[in-house]
Amino acid sequence: MFNFLRKEPKSQPKYFPNISLYQQEISELLKHHPTPLFLIDQSIVNERFQSLKKFSIAYSFKTNYALAESSLVDRQSIIAEVVSEKEYLLAKKLRYKTIIYNGPYKSDTSLITAINDPHTFIHIDNLSQLKTFHHLDHSHHKKYGLRFNPQSTPSRFGFTDIEILDIASRFPPTQINALHIHLGSDIDQPDIYCDAVAKTNELITRLQHLNVQLDYVDFGGGFPSHGLPPFSKKNWHPQPIEKYLSKISQLETSKIILEPGRFLIDDATIFVTQVIDTKNTANRFQILCNASIDMLPLTNYRLQIVKAYHPDFSEYEFSENESIVYGATCQESDKLHQGFVARCQPGDYLIFFCTGAYNQSLGSNFIFTKPSTLVI
Ligand SMILES: Cc1ncc(COP(=O)(O)O)c(C=O)c1O
Repeated sequence: MFNFLRKEPKSQPKYFPNISLYQQEISELLKHHPTPLFLIDQSIVNERFQSLKKFSIAYSFKTNYALAESSLVDRQSIIAEVVSEKEYLLAKKLRYKTIIYNGPYKSDTSLITAINDPHTFIHIDNLSQLKTFHHLDHSHHKKYGLRFNPQSTPSRFGFTDIEILDIASRFPPTQINALHIHLGSDIDQPDIYCDAVAKTNELITRLQHLNVQLDYVDFGGGFPSHGLPPFSKKNWHPQPIEKYLSKISQLETSKIILEPGRFLIDDATIFVTQVIDTKNTANRFQILCNASIDMLPLTNYRLQIVKAYHPDFSEYEFSENESIVYGATCQESDKLHQGFVARCQPGDYLIFFCTGAYNQSLGSNFIFTKPSTLVI
């Protein structure tokens, strides 16, 4: 899982919070909020929302619930993108004005609520869900979108173009008003977007012949953040967001919705943990911190970017210490990082960068309580 040969970047990447600007603020916060702690840099989140402003944005709740609950998301203009009854009820409780209800499973009760709510857009994922929808939609007026897989590789989600054309000929075509696409996460190659757009445009034209008029195309999320390469990727070249957006803009539709998650929150979030103990062993420096891998499950997805700080949050000089950072649970596998970290001491802090996507939501409270999330 870990790769000792991969070295950390030498300078702090520009996409992430600049800790030297936040030294005092973080020190103050920690007087009242114990570590471990997630901190969101609001200026980065705002910048990311700004960069997508030409499109309608639906924030993918499951990426990080703390962001959905924060004041950083304008609940009037940003749509809530939810994928379960639990998330749907959360979006309602938080008073998001508009909700997109995606996902392969929607409970009957939540589907009935969604059908009766003019501000909820329903995207159907599979044939059983479509049949349930038509069974529950007594008025036969509620419009819905269909999830489309434009890629040549089969997907467990959504329908192929042939299946969608078949649905449009068997069910009332005027009820279909949208296509929903989501190509996956951390999609770094612009060509993938380009191909998907071309296939979607073809389908739009063919649907028009069947009397289907789309109100919008929801092109999903998938834009990469700027952490180290995922273990699963052989090549990794995240591009400026404009590269992806210019491809998506080629969609032949009057309205495009995007569903970003990772791109909005991953880079903006740091995870702060304190050094509890250190130890020299024969071939590496061991650091024990007060967090655990259950708080940062994406450690299994890619190598982390970790830096050491003195108690006043001034940064340690980079040093070539081959280190291993252990979490504080009793699991042997509780390793948060293997790489090059400064020779820090108990009482110092470690900051993990680029931790905003899917850690807070996937993390568990095994042994310890889940860390809080605050905004800086
Ligand atoms: C349907 C859908 N939309 C949006 C997202 C957000 O994706 P990302 O965080 O990669 O932007 C996901 C994530 O898996 C998803 O399944």
